[in-house]
Amino acid sequence: MSVSRNTYLNNLQDNDFLWCTNISADWESIHKDCEDLAENNQDHWRPDMGEDYKPWDEAGVKFKKYWDSFGEYGLAPSNKFQGYNKHNTRHWESTANKPTLTSPWMDEVMEQLPLTHKGCRIMMQPPGNTMPWHVDNFWNLRHNYPDIGKYAIRYIVFPKDWDHGHLLQAGTTFITHWKAGDVIVWHPDRWHLSANVGISNKWTFNVTGILTETVSNGDGKVSP
Ligand SMILES: [Fe+2]
Repeated sequence: MSVSRNTYLNNLQDNDFLWCTNISADWESIHKDCEDLAENNQDHWRPDMGEDYKPWDEAGVKFKKYWDSFGEYGLAPSNKFQGYNKHNTRHWESTANKPTLTSPWMDEVMEQLPLTHKGCRIMMQPPGNTMPWHVDNFWNLRHNYPDIGKYAIRYIVFPKDWDHGHLLQAGTTFITHWKAGDVIVWHPDRWHLSANVGISNKWTFNVTGILTETVSNGDGKVSP
């Protein structure tokens, strides 16, 4: 069913998150590509907490100023009292350093999402790490396109099947048991977290952009 983007956002407001679709692709090769990228680009590791963000351009300097205005530990300063630090919030991401890393499959996957002005990021969270409770600020997108209003949104594509201890929480709902190629989305204002308390790396492919005027397949499901 095709719906307007306002209807789509209203639907997302009523649900913690929705399962959108499953993108068919050679996910086994894509996962191998992800592992190779991480192995070969060790300078793309970063923690979420407890270490200074190092800007590489003018936009980054502005972002740092914005981020620092929330205090030493980012958007949820109380996290500092809950044990989060640079050792337990580590992850690897394709955009952590210049040049950002790309592979041909990324465009093919991104094309299938109802977004303009798309950007993407592969993320890997190794066992023992968390990304604490936060809300996305879409800073880059808002910096480049100040008039986008409420239409900035992020889709999460899973390049690999769920494994023990891999979890996301959106609102009050845990998200688990995904299959490679599954796509989920939550409302841009939804608070969420991500943790890997398992035994294998957790991979996600985040695609961020501006919602198209209408969204085909706009009736996501509450279960996979
Ligand atoms: Fe997030």
